[in-house]
Amino acid sequence: MADKAILTVGDQKIELPILEGTEGDRALDITKLRDQTGVVTFDPSLGNTSLCRSAITFIDGEQGVLRYRGIPIEQFTVKPNFVEAAWMLIFGRLPKREELVRFSNLLTENELLHEGVKHQFQHIPPDAPPMAILSATLSHLACYHQELLALEDEESLEAAAARLISKVRTIAAFSYRRSLGLPVNYPDPHLRYCANFLHMMFSLPYQQYIVTREVEDALNLMFILHADHEQNCSTSTVRIVGSAKANLFASCAAAVCALWGPLHGGANVEVMEMLQRIHDGGLSPEDCIREAKDKTNPFRLYGFGHRVYRNYDPRAKILKEACDKVFHQLKRKDPLLDIARKLEELALADPYFVDRRLYPNVDFYSGILLRAMGIPTNMFTVCFAIGRLPGWIAHWKEQHDDPSTKILRPRQIYTGQPKTDYTPLEKR
Ligand code: ACO
Repeated sequence: MADKAILTVGDQKIELPILEGTEGDRALDITKLRDQTGVVTFDPSLGNTSLCRSAITFIDGEQGVLRYRGIPIEQFTVKPNFVEAAWMLIFGRLPKREELVRFSNLLTENELLHEGVKHQFQHIPPDAPPMAILSATLSHLACYHQELLALEDEESLEAAAARLISKVRTIAAFSYRRSLGLPVNYPDPHLRYCANFLHMMFSLPYQQYIVTREVEDALNLMFILHADHEQNCSTSTVRIVGSAKANLFASCAAAVCALWGPLHGGANVEVMEMLQRIHDGGLSPEDCIREAKDKTNPFRLYGFGHRVYRNYDPRAKILKEACDKVFHQLKRKDPLLDIARKLEELALADPYFVDRRLYPNVDFYSGILLRAMGIPTNMFTVCFAIGRLPGWIAHWKEQHDDPSTKILRPRQIYTGQPKTDYTPLEKR
């Protein structure tokens, strides 16, 4: 294989090194291109640009492969343990038993919110979007953990990670309780990570929510499947914000804002609304497919398509099976699952979707699984954020630890006015 490419710019010929990853990914190194030729590259959606070298997650979009730290995603589904997967993503290897126990204890120690943060919830309108609350509150945490803004060693990074991963579920549950006008439930230190979240969401003052093993496993699985996905929009946001040496709390708060968008994490809400509309008779599955294909209509088949996957998203495959399993275990049915299956069948037989290689992505079945656990639609993207937090932290750490990191600062092609003179107000 050639280890360099030759590029001709005008009458100049230059050599561009070709970088190679451990799984054979190849990239032209254009870092010296502008210095050597005066030209820059143009790739507005960054779809053809590697932002960094990363050892966290591998995706083969052609084959539908996803691995965390080299381990196929399917292997995390047997005995799903989100806390273990989180530690592994951040620190690069599976934790030893004592490391896992220490980290779990750190999560328990940090599950409470400062009363100052708690009081803030009383001033938020009850119908405030939970993603707005989540982003603002993660940012607000920096006020209470100022000793963790610099993070120059592994121990303080672990302490900050534990605060974020633990408190995010308390913040999420408090915002949900606030939206219903219910008293908040304090975390229970005797419960495991996911069971504790469900308790804070659903226990009542007179009735403890009983967490079944099936639901706890399903939530662990759901969080693990969302835990990292290399350079997606919110993770790249973490890298951009973190490259300015912004602290971890601020970088993760920014990532929540990116995740909120309907083309990214917000798609799970759009999927649910689409399925509900079909269920309520406002749209047939066939009309839905027709609208999604209509270029004059901004509607898309939400939960379908992906920038990287040109094959079935392996997370969607696992979630589809998990839905079947959980509904069977809980002896329940959900008509929206049948509608989702029907839509998938129609889309996968339609030349529009086949030709563009559009398959279900992680958002297509995740909402149905969350709904089975009693989680309302407006909390879906928040659950995505809880799951994705370890990935954001892992990327922030990887970038922070890399001495070659520079501030991320792209170029542009200026298309505005040529030089013009300022006109005083009275002459305009
Ligand atoms: N429904 C209908 N058409 C679609 C869809 C869809 N869901 N997705 C892509 N297409 C079409 C595009 O219109 C385009 O058609 P064209 O070539 O005729 O112009 C073609 O497929 C390629 O699509 P792009 O928009 O170029 O794909 P891109 O990589 O930019 O976008 C994205 C990926 C944003 C995920 C897109 O597929 C989409 O909008 N999907 C629906 C939203 C969604 O499910 N988002 C969640 C993604 S996963 C995640 O973030 C967790």
